[in-house]
Amino acid sequence: MKILVTGGAGYIGSHTVLALAEAGHDVEVVDNFVNSSAESIRRVEKLSGVKIPLHELDLRDEPGITALLDGAGFDSVIHFAGLKAVGESVRQPLDYYGNNLEGTLALVRAMQAAGTRQLVFSSSATVYGDRAPVPYTEEFEPLDSTNPYGRTKAMTEQILVDLAAADPSWRIALLRYFNPVGAHPSGEIGEDPNGIPNNLTPFIAQVAVGRLESLTVFGDDYDTADGTCERDYIHVLDLVDGHVAALEYLAEHPVGARAWNLGTGTGTSVLQVIRAFEKAAGVPVPYVVGPRRAGDLPVNYADATRAREELGWVATRGIEEMCADLWRWQSQNPQGFKG
Ligand code: NAD
Ligand code: UFG
Repeated sequence: MKILVTGGAGYIGSHTVLALAEAGHDVEVVDNFVNSSAESIRRVEKLSGVKIPLHELDLRDEPGITALLDGAGFDSVIHFAGLKAVGESVRQPLDYYGNNLEGTLALVRAMQAAGTRQLVFSSSATVYGDRAPVPYTEEFEPLDSTNPYGRTKAMTEQILVDLAAADPSWRIALLRYFNPVGAHPSGEIGEDPNGIPNNLTPFIAQVAVGRLESLTVFGDDYDTADGTCERDYIHVLDLVDGHVAALEYLAEHPVGARAWNLGTGTGTSVLQVIRAFEKAAGVPVPYVVGPRRAGDLPVNYADATRAREELGWVATRGIEEMCADLWRWQSQNPQGFKG
């Protein structure tokens, strides 16, 4: 298949590009490097031995993305490009609605013009908001979120559902990721957040490597087994396998737009993650318990039945493997791609 990957230089995108190139697909990347650099793709090329055409472009440049797709014969697009920091989206909502909605609209219009009608979209468990019962199932409606970032995901899903309803030649996978963590086992590519990490596992890894002094656990008085929040952490390579399964499914099934949860189906607490990381890395992770973080839900995890039954996909990698791979990436690249 010939596949365009938007946001392919980013964390999940770079791992996906590597897997697609290794599987023999013809892959190209478009990215504006707002949260990444070309170094990730250089490493993907090194690991795969395959040259990856890399187009530096903002998706909101509609003439640019239209020209890129026009006549190029892409069978599918995997659309990762977007801004993703929850807290920043609260402070800068227009940047998030502008980038995530306008970028997607320009992309799908360009796909329509080029006759490329197969799309895999990066959605998020955040579209279940704070009213869905746990475990989350795809049937839950209405989609909403507690923050502007999440609302861009819920709105984009709705746009894509409407598009597929109006033109049944579209085949669209809406993949709702839970908490992607870990890295490629080579240690060559991984998550490289700008500034102080917002998310738990990159924060832990930066404490372990000595870039940060100590972790703050946001609350230990939740109604959970050990008092800390539980999340559905999923190895980034399992997530990648889910994208490949979705691409294969779309090629065979004229489904319109359909959502699948990509999670393991189990919750792991913050303290369990810390312990698993310390064991995998063999280094201590000093932490203090602080107050709860506003907006955090006590527990969420996926019901991943639909992905198993329809896509034939299940997550196979456990928390120890996620931590071991994360540590290999962080310890080999203490400053991320800049180091
Ligand atoms: P990332 O920031 O590492 O990757 C996103 C990439 O998109 C970056 O390389 C960035 O430079 C690029 N980009 C952003 N806006 C662009 C634009 N207008 N034009 C071109 N390129 C642009 O993030 P990630 O963790 O790899 O996430 C990928 C996708 O998955 C995002 O859409 C994100 O919202 C979604 N997602 C991520 C998580 C997570 O926890 N990592 C969870 C659920 C959903
Ligand atoms: N946590 C800490 N200390 C930290 C960072 C996080 O204790 O320094 C805790 C949080 O309170 C939470 C857990 O670790 O209990 C996981 O937090 P993350 O920020 O890593 O992940 P979230 O579950 O809050 O959010 C993630 C993505 C969002 C997405 C959401 C969907 O970051 O983009 O999942 O469920 F919207």
